[in-house]
Amino acid sequence: MDVHTVATAPIQGQKPGTSGLRKKTRVFMGKHFLENYVQSIFDGIGGIEGKTLVVGGDGRYFNDRAIQVILRMMAANGAARAIVGQNGLLSTPAASNLIRQRGTDGGLILSASHNPGGPDEDFGLKYNTPNGGPAPETITDKIYAATNGLTRYFMVESEDVDLATVGETTLGGLTIEVVDPVEAYAALMERLFDMDAISGWLKDHSVRFDAMHAVTGPYAKAILEGRLGAAEGSVVNAEPKPDFGGGHPDPNPIWAKDLVDHMLSDAAPDFGAASDGDGDRNMILGRGLYVSPSDSLALLAAQAHLAPGYAGGLKGVARSMPTSAAVDRVAEAKGIACFETPTGWKFFGNLLDAGRATLCGEESAGTGSDHVREKDGLWAVLLWLNILAATGKSVKDLMAEHWRTYGRNYYSRHDYEAVETSAANALMDGLRGKLSSLPGTTAAGLTVEKADEFAYDDPVDGSRAQGQGLRVWFEGGGRAVFRLSGTGTEGATLRVYLESVETDPDKMDRDPQEALSDVIAAADEIARIREHTGRDAPDVIT
Ligand code: G6P
Ligand code: ZN
Repeated sequence: MDVHTVATAPIQGQKPGTSGLRKKTRVFMGKHFLENYVQSIFDGIGGIEGKTLVVGGDGRYFNDRAIQVILRMMAANGAARAIVGQNGLLSTPAASNLIRQRGTDGGLILSASHNPGGPDEDFGLKYNTPNGGPAPETITDKIYAATNGLTRYFMVESEDVDLATVGETTLGGLTIEVVDPVEAYAALMERLFDMDAISGWLKDHSVRFDAMHAVTGPYAKAILEGRLGAAEGSVVNAEPKPDFGGGHPDPNPIWAKDLVDHMLSDAAPDFGAASDGDGDRNMILGRGLYVSPSDSLALLAAQAHLAPGYAGGLKGVARSMPTSAAVDRVAEAKGIACFETPTGWKFFGNLLDAGRATLCGEESAGTGSDHVREKDGLWAVLLWLNILAATGKSVKDLMAEHWRTYGRNYYSRHDYEAVETSAANALMDGLRGKLSSLPGTTAAGLTVEKADEFAYDDPVDGSRAQGQGLRVWFEGGGRAVFRLSGTGTEGATLRVYLESVETDPDKMDRDPQEALSDVIAAADEIARIREHTGRDAPDVIT
């Protein structure tokens, strides 16, 4: 098979962000764009000769075409084996599991996660390392450097590989192994959870899982309905579609409004959940109750020992900095370590690898554990179900008990999307410039206690990540955090994370927006959000 060396030139803007490279699909489809980036990944990780990679994606528009290009380039670059999900599908956590379980040299995951899909929407590609986790910055820096010096890529010509049939084929020297995307993942879940207890519980309880027309459909069908016996139709929007049915496959109260409305209605089942485009995020609801991701993490940390996979207790927990401190209280009560990391799942990798944390979570609807090196939507759902089955309590009662025991961190995130980049930068620069003068001043009746810019020193490898968000604490336990999103594809997204602490047992049932109203007003006053963005209100409130 002839390997062609194709001359190319560096393409600007191929710098991997929070989670790989994300761009408009048409940008990815542009001349040499995908090929340049794939070759830069291969070059950046020291070549792939003789190596084995897992390849799969969330099924969005261009997933199928991109995989064929990747396989041809793997063959041209001398790789030994590609383990590919049937029809090119693999959820991100399932890919992470395969990378680990099969002892591979890493994997390529095609996804723009919760961003919409389609020719005019988003596409993404990321490299995960042999531990199954997203590549750390030391590696993405090398990939980025490779994009800037690229002069050629390697390609073979061939017919498309049949990815519809499970089994092995070859492309030149490359063996392509097409695997059932669900099998190994489902087996892993069986080892972690008390499946009998959950199926027993499901005999007299109802659930709804919204796959949002994305990759978790087949996983949830097989595990929830197939293995655990949830009523047929419990999994809705189960068929993965290239455009996710025209929606945003983002499990939050805005984009999964149907599910939220259903869970707050009289017809609500006992438990509701949704996952995102690539299956790593989750949203949890009980009958009449939305559980914020930060609260979900805290509840899971408090009760995980009820599942067989965590019966021995947790080594430690970790959360991203903007995530609420609800889990910190649980860690404190249990006497285990609690780590605070920058936004981005990759920062948990070292803690998980070193055995210092068992459970991790983020406010952005991500929860996971050391079973893989990605966050895992369906895993969170199963852990919740295991806890419901083991305690026999409702979601509402569990949360009420949790808040009575640990106090409640009222929490909300306000997003201002597609803000002009210069305006967003001006807001952040303005706030950064006055951080040191804030303590002692008041805003909207709250006194600033301290303020800083978050930097993280990784306790495992000693690396330092700077510029990870601006933090302002108020007397009385309130906090506002300001960050620009690292995953957007249009302009800048300003995220404002708002939190206050309540320990009075009579004040556990307030509406979070109302409970946070003074912190919200203070955040606006201090950062002059309206003035800089020209917006009266956030686009998304979670
Ligand atoms: C992705 C990452 C998460 C991160 C989230 C939010 O989902 O996997 O780890 O928390 O993006 O990132 P952003 O930079 O948009 O706030
Ligand atoms: Zn995702």
